[in-house]
Amino acid sequence: MKFFLDTANVEEIRRIEKLGLVDGVTTNPTLISKEGRPFKEVIQEIAGFVDGPVNAEVVGLKAEEMITEARKLAAWGDNIIVKIPMSEEGLEAVHALTKEGIKTNVTLVFSVAQGLMAAKAGASFISPFVGRLDDIGKDGVELVAELKQVMDEYGYKTEIIAASVRHLQHLESIALTGADIATIPGSIFPKLWDHPLTDKGIDGFLKDWEAYEKGQNK
Ligand code: G3P
Repeated sequence: MKFFLDTANVEEIRRIEKLGLVDGVTTNPTLISKEGRPFKEVIQEIAGFVDGPVNAEVVGLKAEEMITEARKLAAWGDNIIVKIPMSEEGLEAVHALTKEGIKTNVTLVFSVAQGLMAAKAGASFISPFVGRLDDIGKDGVELVAELKQVMDEYGYKTEIIAASVRHLQHLESIALTGADIATIPGSIFPKLWDHPLTDKGIDGFLKDWEAYEKGQNK
């Protein structure tokens, strides 16, 4: 399973990258806006040191606008993936861009049908939003599992990026679906490696070691 970091914060990416946990990065207009820096500068900086796909999203709503933006974004680096929102216009853009060799990630996917349409149009990635489905009383992880089944059944090469991941249980359940990728906010990562019993265990070992050393030095 691959882990992408769902952030546009360079320091956050560098910190998690040191642990060997970053296979790629996803951004969106909200995450870019939080950084208060020029879009191109941020994306190029991230794409320059991350060894994997770096996702940058278009903001146009018409297919032609998306295509023009996508060409510009794709030229910012060899590892740039263009995020395109799910819509009829988006599908048209994905189909045209795929023919040009520009890789896309269809974002804001909330149903099996949407995922299937995106894969058929040629998307390299699809992003079901797990947490936002949970927010409206649906089961986001279940959608990921269903999409995985459909992609496998019909032999699509499209990779599933489980997005809108909010907590440890999400990540563990997503992993069990066999999804290709989970994109995770930096704030969630420590929760993936921390465990109270690990902390307690370390504490116990250190106390015993202290006592042992005191005994040896008598
Ligand atoms: O990757 C999409 C993600 O950034 C959305 O997360 O928590 O705003 O639903 P959230």
